[in-house]
Order: sequence, then structure tokens, then C-alpha cells
Amino acid sequence: MKTNVYTLITGASEGFGKALAVECASRKMNLILVALPGTQLKCFANMLKENYAIDAVAIEKDLSVEENCLAVYTEVVERNFNVNILINNVGLGSTMLFKEGSLDFYQKQVKLNVMTATVMTYLFLDMLRSNSPSYILNVGSLCCFFYLMKKQVYGATKSYIYFFSKSLRRELSPEYINVSVICPGPMNTNKSVTSLNETNNWLTRMSTMNPEEVAPIAIEGLLNKKEVIIPGFLNQFFLFLDLMIPSFLKRMITDAQMRNLASVSAVQRN
Ligand SMILES: NC(=O)c1ccc[n+]([C@@H]2O[C@H](COP(=O)([O-])OP(=O)(O)OC[C@H]3O[C@@H](n4cnc5c(N)ncnc54)[C@H](OP(=O)(O)O)[C@@H]3O)[C@@H](O)[C@H]2O)c1
Repeated sequence: MKTNVYTLITGASEGFGKALAVECASRKMNLILVALPGTQLKCFANMLKENYAIDAVAIEKDLSVEENCLAVYTEVVERNFNVNILINNVGLGSTMLFKEGSLDFYQKQVKLNVMTATVMTYLFLDMLRSNSPSYILNVGSLCCFFYLMKKQVYGATKSYIYFFSKSLRRELSPEYINVSVICPGPMNTNKSVTSLNETNNWLTRMSTMNPEEVAPIAIEGLLNKKEVIIPGFLNQFFLFLDLMIPSFLKRMITDAQMRNLASVSAVQRN
């Protein structure tokens, strides 16, 4: 393996991306961190450089704009960085009824969750090939396995990530490029998740993990070439339950949830 190689993490200034960056730095990996401009990304990169004796570079770009993915790639090439691990983490979450969101929001969500991962993978593929053995970690979500209330667009984007990863893994493994997908349950990352946590049922609260707990599981799973990484016992148990419960019962549960939501909205309107 080359020594001057880098791990590129998208959406690395906050939340899970930030935790992944710290975990990678603690494993002495050089880092290229990408996030929105004005996010203290440079300070964070400098902190990692000083504390972990690695190289860490910050590239500030809005990745929901396709040309900016190309700009990131061009900068990496021009600065002679060799990427051997690509972590497609950036993503926009949401929990709301479809009618409650704006078209602008859904367009951005689909771009960031689906297009950015696809474009970044496409752009960096040759570099990953020439630095093989190399790795791609795509960040999905546990909700890609279920059709959850208020997660219609988000869940669908994460299903894309799941199937994209599984299919790509088969194509790229002969070239010594490992593709893994991590499907975390709820994580305490940003305010929207933590505030939701207060209104969530106890089971969801119990299954919520800190990003700092999930990051080591993610990197360990990736380096061990796991195909699908499900962090947390409860999340694994939910998946097992889902396989066991007959589909008519699942439909009854979701229908009851929907009726519940409709009655709550009716009360709020009155
Ligand atoms: N949190 C959960 O419960 C959960 C559960 C399962 C899966 N996931 C997945 O985990 C990933 C990370 O989620 P998170 O909760 O850590 O999110 P987060 O706390 O909102 O952090 C997202 C990161 O992406 C950056 N970012 C946002 N928009 C960007 C853009 N247009 N261009 C470049 N960077 C951008 C953010 O920068 P700023 O700080 O400037 O916004 C931040 O660094 C996502 O793919 C999400 O779907 C999350």
C-alpha cells in the first residue's frame, strides 16, 4: 500500500462525518475533509493534524452542486493526493409528511443523498483503482429496509445507496476495491435528530447511538470488507424482527401509525 495515501470524507465538519474523521485520524490515516464553506473545517483539519500527527486537508464546497464534486476531484489531482478510501457520508435527513416539504428541499435531498455519492464514486474510481487495495464506504440508513412514516424521500434515497453499494461491490471486487455500506439507526448528530428524540417512542430512543460509537464500527467493518454494516444490537434485532413478522401484520402496524398521524394533524388543525 502506498504511504502518501488519503481517506476522503464528504460532510466531515459535523455529525457522523466528523466522528469518522476522528476515528480515521486515530488510525493514522491522512485525511481530505469536504464540507460546506464557513464550517470551521480548516480549524478541525488543523486540530487533527496537530493531535494525531497525520496530514489533514480541508476542501470547502457545496456538494449538492454537481460541478463542485468535479472541483473537489480536480483539486485532489492537482495537489497530487492519492485517495485510497472514499467515504460518501454527506446526506440530508428529514422526518415529515411528503406534503410538508418543499420541492426545493426534496431536490436538494435527492441530489446530495443520491447524485453526490454517485458522482464522487465515478470521479474517484480510476484513482481508487490505481491505489488498490482500496475502499468505498457509503453511508446509508437503517430506514432503507422499511417503509417508514415521514421518511418517504429520505428512505428512498438510502435504498438507492444500499442497492448501489451492493451491486458496485460485485463489479469492483475483482479490482481489489472493497465497497461497504453502513446502515445506522438513529444517531445523536444534529439538533433535528436530538429534538426528535424527545418526542420519539422509547424503543427509538433506546436504539439511538452516538456517532462516536458508530464510527469505529464503520471503519472496522470497512477494513474487514464487510458488505453491510449494521451498528448496534437493537438495530440488528429490528432487522431480524422485520424478517420474522408477516407482511399483513406490518401493513396493519403502518396503517395504524398513519391513522394516528392523521388524527394528530386533524387535532392540530382545529
Ligand atoms: N443522524 C442520523 O440519525 C442518521 C441515521 C442514519 C444515517 N445517517 C446518515 O449519516 C450521514 C451523516 O448524517 P449526520 O446526521 O451526521 O448529518 P449532519 O450532522 O447534518 O452533518 C452533515 C455534514 O454534511 C455537511 N453538509 C451538509 N450539506 C452539505 C453540502 N451541500 N455540501 C457539503 N457538505 C454538506 C454538513 O456541513 P454543515 O455543518 O455545514 O451543515 C456536515 O458536515 C448522512 O448520510 C445521513 O443520512 C444519519
